[in-house]
Amino acid sequence: MPQPSIRISQATRYQNAALNYYLSLTDSPYLHYGYWETQPKSAEDLTIANLCTAQAAYTQKLMAFIPEGTHAILDVGCGTGGNATYLLDRGFTVEGLAPDTFQQERFLAATSGRAPFHLSRFEDFKTSHPFDLVLLSESSQYMSAQDIAQGAARGLKQGGYLLLADMLRSDATYTEGIFSNCHVVEDLHQALLQSGFTLVKMEDISTQAAPTIEIGIDAFRRFGLSTVKYIADVIQIAVPPIYQLLRWAYKRWLQKTVEEGLQAGEIFHRHLCYQIQLWQLSAKDS
Ligand SMILES: C[S@@+](CC[C@H](N)C(=O)[O-])C[C@H]1O[C@@H](n2cnc3c(N)ncnc32)[C@H](O)[C@@H]1O
Repeated sequence: MPQPSIRISQATRYQNAALNYYLSLTDSPYLHYGYWETQPKSAEDLTIANLCTAQAAYTQKLMAFIPEGTHAILDVGCGTGGNATYLLDRGFTVEGLAPDTFQQERFLAATSGRAPFHLSRFEDFKTSHPFDLVLLSESSQYMSAQDIAQGAARGLKQGGYLLLADMLRSDATYTEGIFSNCHVVEDLHQALLQSGFTLVKMEDISTQAAPTIEIGIDAFRRFGLSTVKYIADVIQIAVPPIYQLLRWAYKRWLQKTVEEGLQAGEIFHRHLCYQIQLWQLSAKDS
């Protein structure tokens, strides 16, 4: 495994662990929600195979936003290289960036050495050669709106593009909970305008992303909670005092998050949306 040449913060290590867990469940080259072209008719359609189909469709959908004349792309928060491979296969020049050595290893293997990888946070990244397009495929929620806007402006050629797709908060009053790290639509918009970007195109794909939340809840309920309950039952039989301690710790620190996780679908529909946005940096401000 490549050695980290950066110090990775504890918060980022938690995020990396969650992303790696997600990868181990799906075994997909993508880490995004996907684009369900056909809405699932019942819970039977909420399968990992259908999720992987939706993920491939998302990449195709997102990349269709890339304007003519684009060659060099910086894939910020590149994950394990699914999007980069798609782009390389279509003749683009790609560089990947993420603050995770596991993703670094997987990205380099997936792209077969065709794309350099920068082990870095976007906030710390500096380039000697500006790009035609900066891509943030579901990575905007991990950094501040200002860092996105300023970093993209720094890394782009005059008139270059920022292509961003992510879950966003349509309700600015939603400030606490599982999705509260997502940007408020208007805040992100303002930060990009202030850094000299103009919105070229936007599409809301909330409906097509939502089934993935239902898959997550279904898997969590069916396998996650039932496995934890089984382990708890065994501990209760074998070592009752440890069971009592764990039960107390669960109620104290975890219960609220678990209950919220089971309501993720409703929370998403009430307070969030999923958008693809294409922005252009004005020649004057770059
Ligand atoms: C949900 S994954 C999306 C991966 C990939 N873009 C995709 O569409 O499948 C989020 C990505 O953002 C990266 N990330 C998290 N914090 C970051 C930061 N501060 N700078 C750059 N990338 C970051 C993660 O390591 C991961 O690669």
